[in-house]
Amino acid sequence: MVKITKVVASYFSATGTTKKVVEAMAATVAKTMGLPCEVRSFTLPAGRKEPLTFGAGELVFLGTPVYAGRVPNVLLKYIKTMVGTGAIGVPVVVYGNRNYDDALIELRDLMETAGIHTIAGAAFIGEHSFSKILAAGRPDEQDLAKAKTFGQEVAAKLAGKLNDGPIEVKGCEPYRPYYVPKMKDGSNKNIIKVFPKVDKDKCINCLHCVKVCPLGSINAEDVATYNGFCIKCGACVKGCPKGARYYDDPVYEYHKTNLEENFMRRAEPEMFL
Ligand SMILES: Cc1cc2nc3c(=O)[nH]c(=O)nc-3n(C[C@H](O)[C@H](O)[C@H](O)COP(=O)(O)O)c2cc1C
Repeated sequence: MVKITKVVASYFSATGTTKKVVEAMAATVAKTMGLPCEVRSFTLPAGRKEPLTFGAGELVFLGTPVYAGRVPNVLLKYIKTMVGTGAIGVPVVVYGNRNYDDALIELRDLMETAGIHTIAGAAFIGEHSFSKILAAGRPDEQDLAKAKTFGQEVAAKLAGKLNDGPIEVKGCEPYRPYYVPKMKDGSNKNIIKVFPKVDKDKCINCLHCVKVCPLGSINAEDVATYNGFCIKCGACVKGCPKGARYYDDPVYEYHKTNLEENFMRRAEPEMFL
């Protein structure tokens, strides 16, 4: 039996859905086992100054959203600096109701490469970063109840014999390419260079957007301008208290509508133990 002394909830979560799922799981295990629970967010640049470091005695729930069917590629360089020799881990991905494709298996592999022994895994659903209607309000109560039950199952598993190798999860190896939406004419157009616009009549210059941008890309002197990339994570658009930020790019709009038209059925969480 492995001895656990601390539970860690660690995640990247631009619009807060991954945070909710991972914290629900970790808090349940901590409560069930009477252990402390530490939260370690790497959403903002300040949270990525030091590498993620875990060790013996720690149970780590590591969560990321799914971007283009994979672990967000903007995070890969940072996650690859993670060191976790001796830790026990649970990869968790949260996706916007389309599919998680190879994100969970990729996150599992990243943890194993860092020396973390994965004993469970999960894919949950969160409101889509691009939309207010696709998986609206998720994770909801039902999802969070499942996250808590999963936490209890992980705690129970720790009391018995663990899997020797990495936990088996759904996904393909080699990983499939990043999901690229098709336009009506069958062509692939990406939205890499798209940035949110600002309605200056609504903006009160509260600088909330500057504070929540995971890449620190929004200029405080003029919040309609940028000093870096935009990953379309939705943090500034959904988080703006005045609804002053929006996308008006036709390819982005097409992609959003296409997702809303084709992926409205309710996807359910999947758990691997
Ligand atoms: C660039 C980008 C790509 C995405 N790709 C997918 C995808 O392939 N499949 C899917 O179901 N959701 C996708 N989503 C939606 C997010 O995975 C989902 O909204 C998630 O809940 C966001 O997590 P967060 O609230 O922790 O930021 C994507 C979101 C963004 C910003």
